[in-house]
Amino acid sequence: MLWSLIGIGVFVYGVVYLLALLLLDCDLELAIYERFGKSIGRLKGKVCFITGASSGIGEQTAIVLARHGVKLVLAARRRGELERVKRACLEESKGVLQDNDVLVLPMDLCDLNSHKALFDRAARHFNGIDILFNNAGRSQRAVFENIEMSVHKELFELNVFSVVNLTKIAIDHFNQRGSGQIAVTSSIAGVMGVPYSASYTASKHAIHGFMNCLRTEKTGKHIAVTLLCPGPTFTNFLQESFTGKSGEKYGETVQSTDKRMTGQRCGQLCAIAIANKTKESWMAVFPLIPFVYLYTYFPTIYGIMLKMVGPEKMFKLRDSNEKLAEDYKN
Ligand SMILES: NC(=O)c1ccc[n+]([C@@H]2O[C@H](COP(=O)([O-])OP(=O)(O)OC[C@H]3O[C@@H](n4cnc5c(N)ncnc54)[C@H](OP(=O)(O)O)[C@@H]3O)[C@@H](O)[C@H]2O)c1
Repeated sequence: MLWSLIGIGVFVYGVVYLLALLLLDCDLELAIYERFGKSIGRLKGKVCFITGASSGIGEQTAIVLARHGVKLVLAARRRGELERVKRACLEESKGVLQDNDVLVLPMDLCDLNSHKALFDRAARHFNGIDILFNNAGRSQRAVFENIEMSVHKELFELNVFSVVNLTKIAIDHFNQRGSGQIAVTSSIAGVMGVPYSASYTASKHAIHGFMNCLRTEKTGKHIAVTLLCPGPTFTNFLQESFTGKSGEKYGETVQSTDKRMTGQRCGQLCAIAIANKTKESWMAVFPLIPFVYLYTYFPTIYGIMLKMVGPEKMFKLRDSNEKLAEDYKN
């Protein structure tokens, strides 16, 4: 009798788990936090420094946080866009945030020498920073053997070294204050090997290495480290993506018919993950989340599946357009 009950329990658990994977747009832990975890409102009054806040995922996360009364440092290169996002944040907060509670901080993250002075300026403005959200970054579309070494280096400069440098400055600050949180926008490409983006995929894997090491070192020391891993999302990133050639931009635009997560939904999930201090959160439209689970926990099955569908079909899942990969290879 007991064994039958355990058997039925395991079976029901398995079915619920599989159904959840088919229905959810994020990993199971994040889905549970969304329904039963800490509300984003617990961050009210805290100060979040967001890089890449002038568009896309950074902008949308800023708006969600502002709705919940989080004070913001909005950092990126385009001052005009940051001012636009600031106005949207103030409006979204419905009077909870005042002009002084959202600081526009123009900065080029590739200028590592400017980081300390700019971070200190923001910390002085708010009398301390609670969360550093490293979100700025650029993607890539290129075939492995066509990528110039200089592109690997340029991409790492923004996606990895600027993040590591700013994080180091924030960690010194958190050590003095006794607590803090680092969040980073990685990608599904930080978890699995996606095709036609070797430098980008490597940069996001490198971020996982740095941040997993940092989290281990800071365990029990009131410093949380959260890796956010979105899949395809409606933003400007294709325009700005690196290719294999130095100085070249991919320049494609996302189409409204593409299969991607909206920026708003991605921003909402990022804010939930930050509020709940998750270690690593995946967010993507179907069927990418089941693929990430397969890749992580059942690599042999994933390998067989990849052989059957081929890299172009995988690329199509990412960019909703198989032809882009074909064009690029020719
Ligand atoms: N969209 C997706 O499908 C997707 C999927 C997975 C992960 N991600 C990740 O999400 C993050 C945000 O990308 P997104 O999709 O939101 O793209 P996006 O709309 O192009 O936003 C990129 C942001 O990074 C900033 N940025 C770029 N270079 C910079 C520099 N040198 N200094 C300072 N800021 C810089 C841009 O601002 P300025 O131009 O004003 O400087 C912009 O605010 C990236 O890390 C990306 O890898 C995106």
